[in-house]
Amino acid sequence: MDTSKSISHLLQPDNPAHKRGDGSLSFSNLETVGWTQFRCSDVLEKLASKVLEIAALVFALPESEKRAYYMQKIKYQSGWRDYKQEGRPSEIWQIRPVEAKECWPAHLASERAGILELLDQSIKEFGPELDFLLQAYGGAPNEFYESLRRGPSVVRLLHYSAGNPTMRFAEHTDLGFATLLVAETSPGLELITQEGMWKLAELGTNNWILASGDMFAIRSSGSIPSALHRVVSAPMDRLAIAIFLHLDEDYPLSRDVEGNVLTADAFLNRAIQWNAAT
Ligand SMILES: [Fe+2]
Repeated sequence: MDTSKSISHLLQPDNPAHKRGDGSLSFSNLETVGWTQFRCSDVLEKLASKVLEIAALVFALPESEKRAYYMQKIKYQSGWRDYKQEGRPSEIWQIRPVEAKECWPAHLASERAGILELLDQSIKEFGPELDFLLQAYGGAPNEFYESLRRGPSVVRLLHYSAGNPTMRFAEHTDLGFATLLVAETSPGLELITQEGMWKLAELGTNNWILASGDMFAIRSSGSIPSALHRVVSAPMDRLAIAIFLHLDEDYPLSRDVEGNVLTADAFLNRAIQWNAAT
């Protein structure tokens, strides 16, 4: 890995950006608002550019074809789906290493392989970085990397069509361990700053954001909060890529005073049920 362009140097305590405290490129930002922006490796940049082209290709398919791959929960949710209600993207497509046939067009197998390469490479590069970071909160070496390799991580392609409504995805935190916000074709993603203001992310294929999720917050006992973010309306069509990093379903997120373990899977199911009921 080319460490000069990875997140490593941002997370080192002697990182000059940290010392200067000059905004988003700092370790302290993760501890205060749960996200940090950084330049990704050249390998990831190329993969992200390719996947952005694939997103344009698949969302342009006829709706009847997309509907044939309507999102279904085989083990986890994969496939295409649209949203008719406000406060959501117009359509999304989720791709995981399993469940291909029912969830993705067979004639676009090489495109699917390109998306999965982005996922695989992201885990290879960020797993060790997250290990480094979490060791400050009691993590064992390789603990997270190994768990991420087994977990149900997913690439989500998003399409926001132009125009109304003004707020396209209301403020929220992500349920998973961490989210890589990879690229967007026009600005729209906003994150909360240390001052409590909204900041436009302005992602590029080489300018990514690592946003911690609810599981990260639990695992670090609240030392790293989950990142509050939202998507505002854009005057033009907007495509975006997000990678949701999930731990192995048996991963112990926390232990209560009686020694009962909260696993990643138990937390996810509880949170999904709670969201559905509210
Ligand atoms: Fe999100």
